[in-house]
This record gives sequence, C-alpha cells and structure tokens, in this order.
Amino acid sequence: MKYIIKNGSVVFPGGVKKCDVLVEDGKIAEVGENISCDCEVLDAEGLHVFPGLIDMHVHLREPGFEGKEDIESGSKAAVAGGFTQICCMPNTNPVNDNAVVTTYIKYRSEQVNLCKVHPIGSITKGEKGEELAEIGKMASAGAVAISDDGRSVMDSKIMRLAMEYANGFNIKCLCHCEDENLVDGGVVNEGLNSTITGLKGSIRAAEDIMIAREICLSESLGIPVHICHVSTYSGVELIRSAKARGVKVTAESCPHYFWLTDDIITGFDTYTKVNPPIREERDRQAIIEGLKDGTLDCIVTDHAPHSKKDKQVEYSLAAFGISGIETSFSLSYTKLVKEGDMSLPELAEKMSAAPARILNLEGGEIKAGAPADITIADLAAKYVIDGEKFISKGKNTPFNGTEVYGKIAYTIVGGDVKYSAV
Ligand code: DOR
Repeated sequence: MKYIIKNGSVVFPGGVKKCDVLVEDGKIAEVGENISCDCEVLDAEGLHVFPGLIDMHVHLREPGFEGKEDIESGSKAAVAGGFTQICCMPNTNPVNDNAVVTTYIKYRSEQVNLCKVHPIGSITKGEKGEELAEIGKMASAGAVAISDDGRSVMDSKIMRLAMEYANGFNIKCLCHCEDENLVDGGVVNEGLNSTITGLKGSIRAAEDIMIAREICLSESLGIPVHICHVSTYSGVELIRSAKARGVKVTAESCPHYFWLTDDIITGFDTYTKVNPPIREERDRQAIIEGLKDGTLDCIVTDHAPHSKKDKQVEYSLAAFGISGIETSFSLSYTKLVKEGDMSLPELAEKMSAAPARILNLEGGEIKAGAPADITIADLAAKYVIDGEKFISKGKNTPFNGTEVYGKIAYTIVGGDVKYSAV
C-alpha cells in the first residue's frame, strides 16, 4: 500500500514546513518537497501534519467497568481525538496486576485494531499498596510501565522496591501523587472555594509530599521516575529544582489543570470533580510555565470516563474523573499555541515526542523510516465542545460550551486511516 500526503504543513521538531509525506507499507518512506509518486493522494491543503499523538495516561475501563468505557469505545474516541497510541491504566476489575490481564488488553486492542494500545501494569496487587504485582511477567507480556494510578503507594519501602524491580525490566513507575491520609476524604482543592461551598478540601501538600518522596527515591536510587497529572504550583517547583540537580524525573499535566481554576466548583457540577483536584490561578499559571520551560515534559488526558449514574449524584459522592481524550488536542492548541505560549513544534513535543521518549515507544517524529503514525488537523476550524456528542461512553466534561480551535481531520495508524472527519 502506497499513498502520498500532499500540500500539508508538516510539523517537525525544528519548525513547520510545507512538504509531502510518502507512506508505504505502514511506514513513512520519504519526506520532502514535490515528491513525485504515481499513487493515491491525500490532499492536506490548509491542514497541519503532526507526528501521531500519544496519550500515555488513559483509563479504558475494560475489563470490568465496560458501562463506563471499553477498549473499542475508548479506541474509537482516541482516534477521533487524534491519538495514534494510548497507554491504559490498570485500575480495572480485575486490576491489571498480572500477565493474563495484560495479555487480554493487548489481544482485545489488536482485535479492535484502531490505535495502538499499550497496557500499564499495576505496582501492587489489586492496587492495594501492600504487595508487589507480577512486574516482570507483565513487562514480558507487553506492559510499558507500572502505576497504581488513582491511588498513591503509601508504603515508601514498597515504592522503593517497585522502582528497583521496574528498572530491572527497563520500565518506569508512573506515580499518582496524593498522600491518602492528608487527602482524608477531600474532594476539591482546599482553599476559599472549598470553604464557600462546604465541600471537603484536599490540601496541596497532599500532592507535594508524594511528589517529593518519589523525587527522593529516584535521586537516592539513581532510577528514573515519572510524576502523573501535576496540579500544584509547588509540585512544579519541586520537579523543576530536582531536574536542575540532575534527578531523572519526568512529569505530565492535563488540559483541565492549565485551563481551569476551582472557581468552577461553586456551580457544584460533578463533571469538575477530578483527582488531583483543579486548583487556583497561581497553580494554573505555574502549569503553563512548567510546560513551557520543560519542567513538565508532556500533556496527557487522564481520560477518565464515567457513566451518568456515577456522576449524577451529590458532589461528595460522585466519581472522580474527566473524559478528555476527544478534547485534549483542541484545548491544548487553543490555550497554549493560539494564546502564544508555545509553538506548534513544542506542542508536538509535548503530545507526541516526549511520551514516546519517556516510555520507549516508537514514533514521535515525522521522518523517513518511522511508522506511519500521523495526525492531520485543521487548526483554523473552530467548534464548541459538547460532551453529549463524544464517541467515548464518558460524557463527563467540564468544558461543555467552551469554544476551541483545531479539529482532527485524519488519524493515521501504521499507514491506515483510522479516523477521518469527512
Ligand atoms: O480523577 C481521576 N480519575 N483521577 C485518577 O487518578 C483516576 C481516575 C479514574 O480512574 O477515574
């Protein structure tokens, strides 16, 4: 199979350039100006051609919670959101704490055959924080990392052992950072708005203490670690100073942390409830600054689809999470690039190259020889977000009614067009 993407503006690490991309047998065969080819043409006039987007932090809910999402609906939503590769968290039922579940996720996603799905194994059995999971066996079965996402591993000795084991298999721990004792049932950020609403707050320190602990372990052991969904200004500062002294720490944040402040919780909309919580303006600005200066390596969605019955209850009882995979690109483009904080190559770095590097995945750049994982977007197209129109089973977005720019036109995985807007 051979075709050529013509007339598009291709986003390279060093800049954006109008050129052609020749795709052959699932790979990028050639990139250059005026490539001649007697083959089918995909006309990308007026469109931007990005390296396939990668989301290293999503929840697909299968096995066990298929009412919220499953591998098929999540993959369909992912390609509609421009993602060619996604990594799914292990808080399923059963938890992905063994090679059988890891193998099942790989098998099922290969059947679905849309985007590439990489399973993340759990750190501890059942994500209970007590006993290490079968890390080596899961790694051999295809787990690209381990995480107890949704919870912190509270026992520092277990976390140390997890880092050492994972490192032995050349994979990383992705750390959900919230001290459960300090969170103590908090459902929103602790501050003025938790006081006004009467909703129980969770203090920044709950997150920062665990970020600091993971940095300490990483530094003492000399083992790389990755910090999930950073939400606090102080967490950004901890990571910045650790990086400055050479600690091998990487970190991510999500669109809701650089778009929103906890002012929105005063409407008691449970779609704003997420872990860690949406914080204040100072935090929002620090997340943008951290993304700009490289303290925060990548943008993920933490796509956390929930059913209506899990959200249409009073705030304190609602499930935590935001369905984000279909809005991440447009939210990131609109807030970071259109508002002038970032260039298109920098956005491609955050949403493709960096996650590929952090998890040792193929992809992240448009170049000859790479897999033909390509995302083509119409940056001039604007639309208003409506969660009810999501392909994902999770309609839970706090961004309903928000006007954004940047529509996905095509998502190409291994040379095959898996999503097309037209
Ligand atoms: O809000 C969240 N929801 N944060 C997490 O870390 C887990 C996720 C979920 O699984 O719903």
